[in-house]
Amino acid sequence: MSELFKSTKLGDYTLNNKVVMAPMTRSRAINNAPSELEATYYSQRAGAGLIITEGVSPSPNGLGYARISGAYSDEQKAGWKKVADAVHAEGGKIFVQMMHTGRVSALQNMVDGAEVVAPTTQTKQGDMWTDTDGMVPHTEPREMTSEDIKQAIEEYVIASKNMIESGIDGIEIHGANGYLIEQFINPNVNTLTNEYGGDTIENRSRFLLDVTKAVVEAIGAGKVGVRVSPYGAFGVEEGGVYPQIDETYTYIAEELSKLGVAYIHVVDHSTMGSPEVPVSIKAKIRAAFNGTYILSGGYTKETAEADLEAGKGDLVAFGRAYIANPDLVERFKQNAELAEGDSSTFYMPGEKGYTDYPTLAEAEA
Ligand SMILES: Cc1cc2nc3c(=O)[nH]c(=O)nc-3n(C[C@H](O)[C@H](O)[C@H](O)COP(=O)(O)O)c2cc1C
Repeated sequence: MSELFKSTKLGDYTLNNKVVMAPMTRSRAINNAPSELEATYYSQRAGAGLIITEGVSPSPNGLGYARISGAYSDEQKAGWKKVADAVHAEGGKIFVQMMHTGRVSALQNMVDGAEVVAPTTQTKQGDMWTDTDGMVPHTEPREMTSEDIKQAIEEYVIASKNMIESGIDGIEIHGANGYLIEQFINPNVNTLTNEYGGDTIENRSRFLLDVTKAVVEAIGAGKVGVRVSPYGAFGVEEGGVYPQIDETYTYIAEELSKLGVAYIHVVDHSTMGSPEVPVSIKAKIRAAFNGTYILSGGYTKETAEADLEAGKGDLVAFGRAYIANPDLVERFKQNAELAEGDSSTFYMPGEKGYTDYPTLAEAEA
């Protein structure tokens, strides 16, 4: 049997196979809470060994995009319970990706009283979609104080506990792709001068590690994973790949290993316009981290099998393929052709381009 279809251990759990649904923001959460619609969408995709949800905010301050969900209110908890129950009814496992957007935000997308906060005084370049005013420039962030940092860590903890109480199996801490945690890690973005900023790798990694440690203490290391993106496109936009990048991510992998988290999930977006992620840094992270390593970015069934066989990782995440192929594992098993997702509906509200992609059996009926 292909490696991809073998059952395997991940932290506290046994997965049915090594196929992971990558986290994807789909912007269907009206009022920032999931509903039956999200429950249907994820249950359709429960054939994955593990589903990692869209980015979900631990705080009102982290809801930078239109129609993304949170994990802090009772309504949100109830919505995520529906999702967890629906996925479990189909035999799947599901982790929520905890994503605080930091300065990747427009105030128009946020609820009353929320604030754009980040470890920087620099406004993110470029524009962002809002339902009220269309495309607008990113909002200038307020640089976080020590008190803000403490509060944010606490928000991650409460939100993670909320999700476990809702029946979600675990939490992926989003340390990638230019959102709050990576804003701390990246020296081209972080302008703090206290123990969370400045020149040292230890200081810039501290927020990620403090959040992870606190979440691990709250819900257990076997229910926690972390996503990172060395050489991500956001680094380039902010002044290039920085000299300490390999050392930074090797240090992070070592420290996460000490915390005993279930997995590290390494992003490679070179098929989406980001720079190549050198094979050497992936190998360094793999060597430095004792838990499960999730490969992601641009994978096909064939390249996934080859990289698993070669020992480059333990699980493989598929993003875009999951949009239009809810039964992706079944299609892989049958060597069936994959359907193409319609990118105009990736972030649009409603069912279209979300829950209306048929399974192979439905398409053939
Ligand atoms: C519509 C869409 C939304 C995404 N949202 C997120 C997200 O919320 N969090 C995240 O870590 N990555 C996000 N990604 C990146 C994917 O998780 C994945 O890394 C990327 O699509 C590359 O994998 P693929 O080549 O299999 O699609 C998103 C990608 C797409 C296409």
